[in-house]
Amino acid sequence: MNVRKIKAMKGKERIVMVTAYDAPSARIAWDAGIKIILVGDSAANTVLGYSNTLPVTMEEMMTFVAAVKRGAPDAFVIADMPFLSYQVSEEEALKNAGKFVKECGADAVKLEGGREIVGIIRKLVDFGIPVMGHLGFTPQYVHTIGGYRVRGKEREEKERILEDAQLLEEAGVFALVLEMMMEDLAKLVTEQVSVPTIGIGSGRYCDGQVLVWHDIMGINPDFKPRFAKSYVNLYEICVEAIKQFIDEVRKGDFPEEKHVFKEK
Ligand code: KIV
Repeated sequence: MNVRKIKAMKGKERIVMVTAYDAPSARIAWDAGIKIILVGDSAANTVLGYSNTLPVTMEEMMTFVAAVKRGAPDAFVIADMPFLSYQVSEEEALKNAGKFVKECGADAVKLEGGREIVGIIRKLVDFGIPVMGHLGFTPQYVHTIGGYRVRGKEREEKERILEDAQLLEEAGVFALVLEMMMEDLAKLVTEQVSVPTIGIGSGRYCDGQVLVWHDIMGINPDFKPRFAKSYVNLYEICVEAIKQFIDEVRKGDFPEEKHVFKEK
């Protein structure tokens, strides 16, 4: 997989992407047939237990990205740039994006935002780092957006997002994540841009779909967004497994003879 192939999929084949944050999950995704993995800054919520994505650091994200690449070396791995790792200056953006590519094996980076990051995207692309854009609900802007809110309900917001999509395409993104926006707006964006759109909570007309690992697996019983689908209830399965372990240790049923080391 590479940016040329991803771009060529538009209108021909639906793109499927998942997030992952560690080596075993990346291996599972790859073995199941996933070719594109996003190491989302949603790691702040899913793995680190924060209530939003703002606190996750470059160092933490680098650990996750490198682990994912070790778990799925042939996957196209996209590193999500954490809050304030690219906004401060183009130089810092290039340095931090470069760390993901050079030190962690990332194939591309993802940045949230519209017109305000066009210069940064150009800089990264000019220096050989592919960039995925991210419009709609952009979690790093949660405080200015005013909470978790579907985007594109009002005309002005819709027009701004459409203009931003155009600007990001011109700046050189190879694909666009569209998060939590009205379905009709996601359809318009998808029709308007020549790069693939990958939706999450943005309806049926995007060129592809992405889901967060922990949502697919049903790991967090307290967080079930309307747009996500859990394909298994791993929370219940894991609780059951741990209960059995507790039970067997207490009864003396574990370890059994086959689990112990002793002279024959
Ligand atoms: O951080 C993340 O997981 C994301 C997805 C929601 C696209 O940006």
